[in-house]
Amino acid sequence: MADINRYISCVFDEIRGELEEYYIFKEKIKINDYLLKIFYEMWGKYAKASKLDYNPIASSFNKIYFWKNLLKSLIFFDKFYDLIGNSILDVGCGAAPVSIAITKLIKKRKEENLSVSLIDKSKNQLHIAKDITQIMSINVKSYTEDFFEMPYENYSELVIFSYFFCEQRSDFLKILFNNRKKFSGGFAIIDYRDNIVKIEKYFRENGDNGIESVFLNYSVPKIISEFIHDSEVNVYGCFYRP
Ligand SMILES: C[S@@+](CC[C@H](N)C(=O)[O-])C[C@H]1O[C@@H](n2cnc3c(N)ncnc32)[C@H](O)[C@@H]1O
Repeated sequence: MADINRYISCVFDEIRGELEEYYIFKEKIKINDYLLKIFYEMWGKYAKASKLDYNPIASSFNKIYFWKNLLKSLIFFDKFYDLIGNSILDVGCGAAPVSIAITKLIKKRKEENLSVSLIDKSKNQLHIAKDITQIMSINVKSYTEDFFEMPYENYSELVIFSYFFCEQRSDFLKILFNNRKKFSGGFAIIDYRDNIVKIEKYFRENGDNGIESVFLNYSVPKIISEFIHDSEVNVYGCFYRP
């Protein structure tokens, strides 16, 4: 297994430094957070049709998953930088690890012109996202909305679903497929491996080969493993360009 590249490690470390004083990341992980991690893993796999949401425990979720999902986004969007364009819509943004990763990658390349919109149905998650983006001087438009109640005719930005798919009802895949032409700026999904396989299979079986999936696997240095609570990182994703 290859090591994560140095550039990604440095960008990760910069973000970590900027956010280390934020209250969620300042507190040490407690034993009940590890129990929550186990709960989330089971929940992600088996309760896709559930109406449960993460709202009451948004801070614990982010303590465990923010850094991991940030790292995955850095890896994915550094590799597929060309997908980004001028604007992104981060659906089910949580604490916005994806938008933060992309903004940082853009700034590193001195390309400042990115418009960032965040949507989450959870006020708590969006509150954390706004705090964090403000600390990092990232301008965002944010909407506390249910994505399915925002009937857009067209999405001209790159729409990103990071660990959003795993929380949706099983008919989401059909809805996504039937509306795929509305995503004129394309969409990208990061999720569990099974879900990515399922999405690609569904698109291809229904006659659209415009989807591409990506499976990446790296080992991470100790300094990062302390944050993601793992010695390796797996990035499972796909993207669609109509
Ligand atoms: C597992 S978290 C992922 C957060 C973040 N994208 C990440 O990668 O860490 C899923 C998020 O999607 C939000 N969510 C789930 N269904 C939603 C919907 N229909 N509309 C808007 N947000 C939704 C939840 O509130 C939660 O914050």
